Amino acid sequence: MSRIRLAPLGRVRARLRVPGDKSISHRALILNALAEGSAVVTGLAPGLDVRSSGAALAALGARIAFPSDGTTRVTGSPSWRASGGVDCGNSGTTARLLLGALAPRARGVVVLDGDPSLRRRPMARVIRPLAAMGAEIVPRGEEGRLPLAVRGAPLRGAIHRLEVASAQVKSAILLAGLAADGSTSIEEPFPSRDHTERLLHAMGAGIETSAGGIRLEPGPIHAVDVAVPGDLSSAALFLGLAAAGGGEAVIEDVGLNPGRTGFLDLLRRLGAEVVVDVDAGEVEPRGRVALRADGLRAIAVGAAEVAGSIDELPLLAVVATRAEGETRVTGAAELKVKESDRIAAIVEGLAAMGADIEALPDGFAVRGPTPLAGAELDARGDHRIGMALAVAASLADGPSTLSGAEWVDVSYPGFFGALAGCADARVTA
Ligand code: S3P
Repeated sequence: MSRIRLAPLGRVRARLRVPGDKSISHRALILNALAEGSAVVTGLAPGLDVRSSGAALAALGARIAFPSDGTTRVTGSPSWRASGGVDCGNSGTTARLLLGALAPRARGVVVLDGDPSLRRRPMARVIRPLAAMGAEIVPRGEEGRLPLAVRGAPLRGAIHRLEVASAQVKSAILLAGLAADGSTSIEEPFPSRDHTERLLHAMGAGIETSAGGIRLEPGPIHAVDVAVPGDLSSAALFLGLAAAGGGEAVIEDVGLNPGRTGFLDLLRRLGAEVVVDVDAGEVEPRGRVALRADGLRAIAVGAAEVAGSIDELPLLAVVATRAEGETRVTGAAELKVKESDRIAAIVEGLAAMGADIEALPDGFAVRGPTPLAGAELDARGDHRIGMALAVAASLADGPSTLSGAEWVDVSYPGFFGALAGCADARVTA
């Protein structure tokens, strides 16, 4: 396990591009592997999670090629079989979307598995709605967990009312629904990221979205080229750092899907000035985000804001240590079933640095402002915890160490170099 030393950064002035969006990259590979024809993907996310999707699709018969121009070429699978099983690594998106893709398409039985963290994550939320459509998914170990054996079966369309707002669950149902008999409808308690719906629409699927939900007609889809924008969840790290440290950040060409921009709204409510210039992308909005901050005040975040900012909530806890008053996040029990229990992980990490933070059953409360002291930190096998704590270490009064630093490669290889590059040379020189 790699352990790195992190020095305080002082005032930050971040100007950068971040690597390709992880959620869009998974979908660019998986949906094109289900489509007729081949497609070229540019700007594919470089992290291990998206590699897990690529390797899983290759094991299932798709052709994923990396020509020397840096693009990725995807050609659909003719067979959807994998006698040796499919390893989804650490990636929940790979496992859940492939469960939906395989349920009507697997030739024979395909076993999906993952690393110890992914084996602990709940899969019943995907198995249940797919089973209601006729899917045959059987656990090979504990109920509702990987490894899972999927036997391809004829599916029928169904009406689904989801209990949790989850783009992974929604996407699994849509990928199954494409090959079902009859239409599939989905209602979510709160809107989640709609990358799958946008791409399906671009691929010619019969999909309609409205405030009431989504309706999909089965049918073939056609491969489309995808230009992946920068990942807003990676950009958020520098925006959060600049907001907390009273600095500036400008991120170019980043994805601005409305289901992902919740953290920008939270930063504005905390008192940061956030300016967004959107270019209408063909499938996904993308553009530039500029932030400047000087002094923050606490906010309350409830269930309605959670889906749009779910991956940034540990980072919000870090930023909140610099805000005046009590920041309270509730309705976010989903944080407990991510790559780690993110409530416990961020509360314990920040408490070790001297933050006044408390775990709640479905969130956390942070009272600020408090200075952060350098500490011995642990990513706990979770890329987002590792990066949020590295941001906290950059704001601290003294040096810290981070164990498990290699986990950041799941979504953002190169993160530590980009972080070190954010120190404002005019101030620290
Ligand atoms: C993702 C959806 C979210 C998010 C995850 C990526 C996706 O998970 O936390 O990092 O690509 O669909 P849920 O759908 O479980 O909320």
